[in-house]
Amino acid sequence: MPTPAPINRIVVADPAALAIAAAARLMARIEANPDRIAICLTGGSSPKQLYHLLGTGLYAKKIPWDRVHWFIGDERFVPPSDPLNNMAMARRIFLDHLAPKDHIHAIPTDAASPDESAQRYERELKIFYRADDLDPKRPLFDLVLMGVGPDGHTASLFPGYPALAEMTRWVTGVPQAHVEPFVPRVTLTLPALASCREMLFEVAGREKHAILDKLSKDESLPANRARSIRETAMLVDRAAAGE
Ligand code: 6PG
Repeated sequence: MPTPAPINRIVVADPAALAIAAAARLMARIEANPDRIAICLTGGSSPKQLYHLLGTGLYAKKIPWDRVHWFIGDERFVPPSDPLNNMAMARRIFLDHLAPKDHIHAIPTDAASPDESAQRYERELKIFYRADDLDPKRPLFDLVLMGVGPDGHTASLFPGYPALAEMTRWVTGVPQAHVEPFVPRVTLTLPALASCREMLFEVAGREKHAILDKLSKDESLPANRARSIRETAMLVDRAAAGE
């Protein structure tokens, strides 16, 4: 992988301001690409306000839904009917009302194992990308959204887990989670997540301050190793920044 550019950390007032800033960056990525657009969403609670924004008012009107494809960076290995399912959360909040069904690329969790699910999703990504190898000149995604967990994980790339070292596969199964919810996961790998024009982290809340502090000291944590081959930014609210 080529050396990634350093992260650009932007502090905003609160979670509402953070969602507005993230939506503005997402819209800018959409506007910069007159062709087919690929956005990789994230799970957890941090992106919920952003998803609500995208589904309402001006944003919903401005998004060229017929050109945008929606993917997910990691999934909990539970059925879509389970409240823990990441893509189901995004679908419920905005995608199901607005996006064409065949533009919503969920990780299939009806497979026999997380690894089989990963293989199927990798195939789907390769078909979409129209190649089996990632070309740095042609990023897979326009935008990849990310969160940071209390242990420094991002997507379902947990500290010290083999998935973090996976440099060939695009998607891999994670039999056991390192933090709650303790369900198996399926995650895009570092090289697949890196193949984007922009990677955007959203980090909000006082409870995130300790891990942000740790990230500034420990380069080996997954959230420090996930970087775009082009541009990486982190939106942080004042509480998380410790201000
Ligand atoms: C998941 C995630 C995970 C998440 C972080 C932050 O499936 O849990 O994709 O990587 O982004 O744990 O989660 P919060 O936004 O809930 O703090």
